[in-house]
Amino acid sequence: MKIPNKIQVIFCSFLSIFFRSRTIKHILKLNGSEKKEFLTKIINENIKYKNNEKQEVSFVNYNSFKFIESYNQLPCTIETRKKRADLLEKNGFRDKEILLIGDDDLLSVELVARNFRHITVLDCDIKLLNKLRILTQEAKYPVNYFHVDLYEGFPKFLNHIFDVVCFDPPQNYEDLNTFMSCAIQSLKNQTSIFYMMVNSSALGSNNTKKLFAELLKYGFVNTNKYEFFNCYPLNKGQSLLLSVMAKFTHPNLKTVKCNYYFSDCLEFKSVQIAQNIEQFSDGKKILTNIIPHYSISEIPIAFYNNYKIQNKKTMN
Ligand SMILES: C[S@@+](CC[C@H](N)C(=O)[O-])C[C@H]1O[C@@H](n2cnc3c(N)ncnc32)[C@H](O)[C@@H]1O
Repeated sequence: MKIPNKIQVIFCSFLSIFFRSRTIKHILKLNGSEKKEFLTKIINENIKYKNNEKQEVSFVNYNSFKFIESYNQLPCTIETRKKRADLLEKNGFRDKEILLIGDDDLLSVELVARNFRHITVLDCDIKLLNKLRILTQEAKYPVNYFHVDLYEGFPKFLNHIFDVVCFDPPQNYEDLNTFMSCAIQSLKNQTSIFYMMVNSSALGSNNTKKLFAELLKYGFVNTNKYEFFNCYPLNKGQSLLLSVMAKFTHPNLKTVKCNYYFSDCLEFKSVQIAQNIEQFSDGKKILTNIIPHYSISEIPIAFYNNYKIQNKKTMN
């Protein structure tokens, strides 16, 4: 049975009252065809994932974490975290200055286990940072953790320091733009790379184009897209929400069970590096200038203003 568009819109606005995550609110606001495209991809990926689901082994106990929906926290699977670390390792970034903007995915723990040398993490969630600090206290190369709310501005002392930035922003244009501007501010000019995790169909094609155009102004081009690279287990409420939405967009599907959300990994390089790649595209590895590392390992966690506490709600 096809449900009229107006009813869909009213129903989705009603549902959004129950969710604090701006990503979920954004998805509920997508128009009919955008929602359909988004859900088709998510449903297909869920089917593929279910068919070759592997048992995950972990050395980090997720149960001891309380993830906060109003911070848009949605930790990825352990397999995804390892894939991200593999990507950074394969690209030869073990000795590079790396910034993780937000780390509910615990990537810093994985990078420490692989002896990455210069890791800095920013997050607005002080409890998460403290847990991460405990989990990485045995690190051969200590991680710098800073308590920062990006909406209060990016700390000046971290400007133009990093070779590589990796972030998984909330999946809506405004928030993503804030994360992206901070990433650009943090990067060294001309020799920098960043990885942004984004579900392009949740963002919408116009927003994606706008984003790419904006990045070009800062001298960054999209050099790689790893489709459905990131997989995130959903809680019962989120999973139910997608199934209910699918009833509107895919009325002919009998049972839809979405246990996971997915996003792509987009790689951006400064135009100068991207041009070098073309010049050296005969299979040689790209060599970027070696720039001295900064060292702030003596600085304890910096305390910035607390992230808007009024929206706090604990998931699970
Ligand atoms: C944005 S969340 C992940 C979003 C998720 N992929 C989604 O689909 O909505 C990633 C990390 O960013 C952190 N974060 C969220 N808002 C922040 C802010 N204003 N400043 C600093 N970190 C923030 C969260 O605590 C979390 O650890």
